Amino acid sequence: MPRQHRPLPSRRNTTRAMRNLDEHTITAEVLGRIGTKTDPRLRDILQSAIRHLHELAREVNLTEAEWLAGVRFLTRTGQMSTDVRQEMVLLSDTLGLSQLVVAQSHRRPPAATEQTVLGPFHVEGAPVRISHGTMLGDRSPGSPLFVSARVTNGAGIPLEGAHVDVWQADGEGLYDVQKPEWELGRAQLRAVFCTDEQGRVSFRSVMPTHYAIPTDGTVGEMMRATHRSPMRPAHVHFRIVHPGFDPLVTHVFAADDPYLDTDCVFGVLSTCLGTFIRREPGAAPDGSVVNVPFHTLDYTFILHESL
Ligand code: BEZ
Ligand code: FE
Repeated sequence: MPRQHRPLPSRRNTTRAMRNLDEHTITAEVLGRIGTKTDPRLRDILQSAIRHLHELAREVNLTEAEWLAGVRFLTRTGQMSTDVRQEMVLLSDTLGLSQLVVAQSHRRPPAATEQTVLGPFHVEGAPVRISHGTMLGDRSPGSPLFVSARVTNGAGIPLEGAHVDVWQADGEGLYDVQKPEWELGRAQLRAVFCTDEQGRVSFRSVMPTHYAIPTDGTVGEMMRATHRSPMRPAHVHFRIVHPGFDPLVTHVFAADDPYLDTDCVFGVLSTCLGTFIRREPGAAPDGSVVNVPFHTLDYTFILHESL
């Protein structure tokens, strides 16, 4: 026979804080509901989120209509997100949260190359190319760019065998993955290289230009509503992996780009500025002759040893 539950004594709990909560006392009560067996890290994060969210609502005196608009905005942002269109991550990027988390997760000495966000246009499994002499963007618009990159440790010793994953936009500000004909077999302006005994790789690509992040979603609405520029300065992305070192995810930005100080994802760092030098037609670094003006970039990445 099922055991009968005895009725609770009347007036039980009426003096505890769980009733008659007001806009101030509700916070402590919500925090107190987190069970004692909760994973400690989850408890810390959730408690902090609750404290900050409640404080935000009190600080701005959030109305019901504003709360609902926020809920709807986040709902639509989630609904737009897919494997290839991560609007939620883009929201985090444009609110500076992604770069903040990256920065505090990869503290390193001032000389080492700094870490930046990965961004939505990286693709795992890009084609592996020889260390020198590859042309990356044979169907991509843009003026020629010759990149020579060197990878060293903090003492300047070259690192042989480092994997250098490169991806970039073309001269019109578009990545291959943004084009209708995209498939991995037709990758443009992306590849993985392996450094030689001098820690070097070199390749030919096209000079990237600054570009706007996708603005046809909720992030675009937020940018327009807050009068923010959606532009990113011209850059080439790199992910460099070598055993014993913190994998480096970074960009090299064109040091003369007009959008350096207003990068919409807050990724411009002083160790990530590269000098893209404009050259007149003539002999190129790879020994070829180029009959249009071209650019060269020579850049050294300094990896940080993992602890
Ligand atoms: C990018 O540079 O590819 C990028 C990074 C973060 C957000 C949007 C784009
Ligand atoms: Fe990019």
